[in-house]
Amino acid sequence: MNGLIKELIDKNVPFTVDGRVMELRKKYTERGVPTLLAESLNELLLFINLKQPKKILEFGTSVGCSGIAMLTAAKDAELYTIEKYDVSYAEAKENFEAFGYIGRVKQFFGEATEVVDKVGDGFDFVFLDCNKSKYKILLPKIKAIMNSGAILFADNVLFRGYVTGEVKAPHRHNTIKNNMREFLRLICEDGDFITTVSDIGDGISVSYKK
Ligand SMILES: C[S@@+](CC[C@H](N)C(=O)[O-])C[C@H]1O[C@@H](n2cnc3c(N)ncnc32)[C@H](O)[C@@H]1O
Repeated sequence: MNGLIKELIDKNVPFTVDGRVMELRKKYTERGVPTLLAESLNELLLFINLKQPKKILEFGTSVGCSGIAMLTAAKDAELYTIEKYDVSYAEAKENFEAFGYIGRVKQFFGEATEVVDKVGDGFDFVFLDCNKSKYKILLPKIKAIMNSGAILFADNVLFRGYVTGEVKAPHRHNTIKNNMREFLRLICEDGDFITTVSDIGDGISVSYKK
């Protein structure tokens, strides 16, 4: 990575990220709660700012950091967000309230592969950030509820370098590695999408639905 960029990232330069959102993120990363890496959040917000979506679907709310960041950047957006861990679901609700966003959020509790059938359609931005083995199963369902012109932004698609083989995957991660390879193959070969894959953070794919 370019030395200057690495230095900026290491210093946690907020780039496009709102100060209050960075504070929230800092609080949870210090506690070890999973949230997007700084450079991945920056990339997400780049696309949110460019697209200015009206209806966002997120897989993997956690405590709401990325959702709050997206709602801060897309002032007219509604967020539909799915989480299966009850403690995170409840904490996210408190955070959405604290930011004054509760009226713009529809929280769904449960397993993403089941809840996806209940969220409706017409999404113009989808952020995929849940269990990595589920991406390939979710893909056809996500595609069906995305508008033409919508963006699918998926995090962790290179999963620690295991997916490309750059780093040898330990046996316990072989299923994730194989499922993620299949997800990337499916989305890159789908003529209805224009897709790029980058090594930002833990790997990000961005797909535009024609
Ligand atoms: C990496 S964290 C999400 C971080 C969040 N998007 C952020 O950046 O602030 C992944 C979250 O997805 C949830 N999750 C994982 N697999 C899931 C599934 N199959 N269905 C619903 N939620 C899931 C986990 O409980 C966890 O809170």
